[in-house]
Amino acid sequence: MTDLVVEGGKRLHGTVAVQGAKNSVLPILAATFLCDKPCVIHNCPELSDVETCLRILAHLGCSCFREGDTVGVDASGAEHYEIPEKLMREMRSSVVFLGAILGKLGRAVISSPGGCELGPRPIDLHLDALKKMGVEIEEDHGYLYCTAPNGLKGNTVSLSFPSVGATENIMLTATLADGKTVIHNAAKEPEISDLADFLNKAGARIYGCGSDTVEIYGVPRLHGAEHAVISDRIVAATYMAAAAVTGGDVLLEHVMPPHLIAVCAAFSDMGCKITPDGKGLRLTAPTRLQRIPTLRSLAYPAFPTDAGPVIMSCLSVAKGTSCFVENIFQNRYRYIDELKRLGAKIKVEDRVAIVEGVSRLSGACCECTDLRGGAALVIAGLAAEGQTVIGKTEHICRGYEKFEKYLARLGADISLKDQEESRENSGKADG
Ligand code: UD1
Repeated sequence: MTDLVVEGGKRLHGTVAVQGAKNSVLPILAATFLCDKPCVIHNCPELSDVETCLRILAHLGCSCFREGDTVGVDASGAEHYEIPEKLMREMRSSVVFLGAILGKLGRAVISSPGGCELGPRPIDLHLDALKKMGVEIEEDHGYLYCTAPNGLKGNTVSLSFPSVGATENIMLTATLADGKTVIHNAAKEPEISDLADFLNKAGARIYGCGSDTVEIYGVPRLHGAEHAVISDRIVAATYMAAAAVTGGDVLLEHVMPPHLIAVCAAFSDMGCKITPDGKGLRLTAPTRLQRIPTLRSLAYPAFPTDAGPVIMSCLSVAKGTSCFVENIFQNRYRYIDELKRLGAKIKVEDRVAIVEGVSRLSGACCECTDLRGGAALVIAGLAAEGQTVIGKTEHICRGYEKFEKYLARLGADISLKDQEESRENSGKADG
C-alpha cells in the first residue's frame, strides 16, 4: 500500500503534456470487440482502468498488446460473451462492454454493476434502450442474461437524461444491428464523438455526434481501424487546478481548448489568466483566487461533474464564499469530509456545497474516497502548509497517469511512499 505525500506551498510552473482521455479509451477499447480485423489505438494512458479493460478483452478471447501508449486489439476469433463479476466490480464502466458483446455475438452475460463510490448508478436507460432493439434481458442472482433471439433491430430511442454510458452502449449495439437507430437526447460529450470517429474509421455509419440526435445506420461488419484518442479534459482541469491553487504558471500541452470552455470560464472567474500559447493553453494564477458565486455541474458543454472536486479545492482557499451545485451524481461529496481535515470550510446540503474560502489550508492525513475526490485532496495538499499524507491512492491510479511525477516536474514536492514509512513520519510530525 502506498500513500501520496505532499509538502505544500510550492508554486507550480513549467509545461505538462495532458494524457489521453480515460473516458474515451474505455468505450473505444470495448468497441474494438466489434471489429473483424486488428485495431491499433494510440494515446492510451497507463491507468488501472485501461488495464482492466484489456483484461476483459483478453477474457473475451481477444489478443491484446501494449507498446508505450499504443494498444493493439485483435478480436477476430473472440467468442466469449460473459464478463465475470470480479472484473465488472473492478470498473463500473465495464457496462459499456454490454453493447459491444451484444453487437458482435447477439448475447451477453454480465453481473449487474450496482452502486459505486458516487452513489447508486442505475443502468435502466441502457437496458430500456436495448430492449427496444430486440434484446431480451433476464436478471438472476445479480447477473444480467441478455439475448437477441430475433437479431438486433434498429429503433428510435429517447433518453430521459443524456446519459454518457447509455448513449455509448446504444451506439455499440446499433452499429451492427439491422436498420437505423436514432438516439434523441443523446449525450454530447466529446468522448461520444471520439467513439463515433473510431467506429466510423472501422466502417460504421454514425452521424450527428456532438448534437443531441445521433443516427446510426447498421452495417454488416466492421474491419479494423487505427485511432488516436482525444486528450483528457478532466486531467487538463486538474493540472489547471494545481497551477491555480499554488499561484502558479503552467502551460498545458496536448489539450483541446474547445472541450475546456466551461472549465476555463471557471478558472477565469477565479481570477486566472488563460491564454493560448504555442501548442497549448497557459494558465497564470493570481496570488489569491477569487470566489465563484455559483457554479453548477451539468451535462456537456456545461461544467463537468468530474472537474467539481478539483475546483472545490481551489474554492476552499479562494477569497470569499462560493456555492457549488452538483447536478449529476447525488453522492459525489464524500471527499469533502476529507478536505475538511485540511481545514477547508465547506457545508453540504443535498446537492449544494457552500465553500467559505480560508486563507490557508494545513497538511493532514486523509484518504481518497473516489478518483476525482482523490485528485482534489492532492490539489488541496499542494496549497496546504506542511505535509499531507493521502491514502487509498489506488483510486487516483484509475484515472491519472504518473500523476506525482508530472506534478513533481512542475515543482511540487510530492512522492509516493510506502504506507508504513509515510504514516510513521507523519506521526512524528504530529507529535
Ligand atoms: C460517464 C463518465 C463519468 C462522468 C459521467 C457524467 C465514463 C467511463 N464515465 O459516466 O466519468 O462523471 O459520465 O459526465 O465515461 N443514470 C441513470 N440511469 C442510467 C444511466 C445513468 O439514472 O441508465 C444517471 C446516473 O445515475 C447519473 C447520471 O444519469 O446520475 C449521469 O450518468 P451517465 O451520464 O450515464 O454517467 P456514466 O456514463 O456512468
